[in-house]
Amino acid sequence: MLITRHAEAVAVLSDTRYVPPPVRQDAPAGTLSWLRAQVSRFSTGEVHAERRRLVTERLATLDPAALRQAATAATLERGGDWPDVPTAVLGAALGITDEKRLVGAVAAAAAGYLSGEAGPEADAAVADLVELLSGEGDPIPRITILLQAHAATAGLIANALTHAEPGDDIDGLLRETLRHDPPLKASRRLDRQTGDEVTIDLVAANRDPAVFAEPERFDLTRGPAPHLTFGSGVRPCPASAHALALAAGVLEAVLRPEDAR
Ligand code: HEM
Repeated sequence: MLITRHAEAVAVLSDTRYVPPPVRQDAPAGTLSWLRAQVSRFSTGEVHAERRRLVTERLATLDPAALRQAATAATLERGGDWPDVPTAVLGAALGITDEKRLVGAVAAAAAGYLSGEAGPEADAAVADLVELLSGEGDPIPRITILLQAHAATAGLIANALTHAEPGDDIDGLLRETLRHDPPLKASRRLDRQTGDEVTIDLVAANRDPAVFAEPERFDLTRGPAPHLTFGSGVRPCPASAHALALAAGVLEAVLRPEDAR
């Protein structure tokens, strides 16, 4: 079933009858498939609640304002070459100093994280991340944060840049980019009662004329709008403030380097 209306999307995302499609549970430790069986993103019920709690607890130690500042500084330092910045800044905030190793491993593991398409390179990257992050307790919440953030945050920044005009208000630009051009275009669920797969088309739901006036128009003056780009209901993104801070920090340095210095 394909869902395109905003109200139906909210209803599915709020109903525990719909769960993320289950992932393989018997993969060898240290592989990407194994990792997918350890994270909140693909788990349900009490296991999901506990894993989400651990991630949220970690996120609470990261100050969005400090992430924003660090993202601006790192982008300026690299002369505007921003794509590694969100992961490097998050990694540094989580205590990882070997940026090159971290960014390489996160990029390789993140490529198959949502789809589950694992190859030897992704498996090796997961093993490397486990090693890199094992010094300080359970590495899984921090690996979850890094992998969830990687492509989504870069996608948000890249999409915002396609709309950016000199002098734009960066927070408004990000808000409307989230609604109009979500980096993740769809969310999938399984109906536990019928076994049916449900796909929520986030682009369509974010342009539902029942909720958004002139939905196709990219309108910086729209103000806060109830887009579903950070999810909704039972398991929304727990890091929207962090994601927005990283994105705004990068955009400030790219769009207004003189003011950001
Ligand atoms: C600092 C950057 C980010 C971090 C650390 C992060 C972290 C997470 C985590 C841990 C989850 C799983 C929550 C759970 O299982 O309960 C999640 C879910 C989600 N994230 Fe984020 N995220 C980031 C950036 C983004 C961005 C930029 C977007 C989109 C613009 C996004 C959209 C989502 C959505 C839609 C979900 C829910 C998926 C679902 O309902 O199945 N995230 N995020």
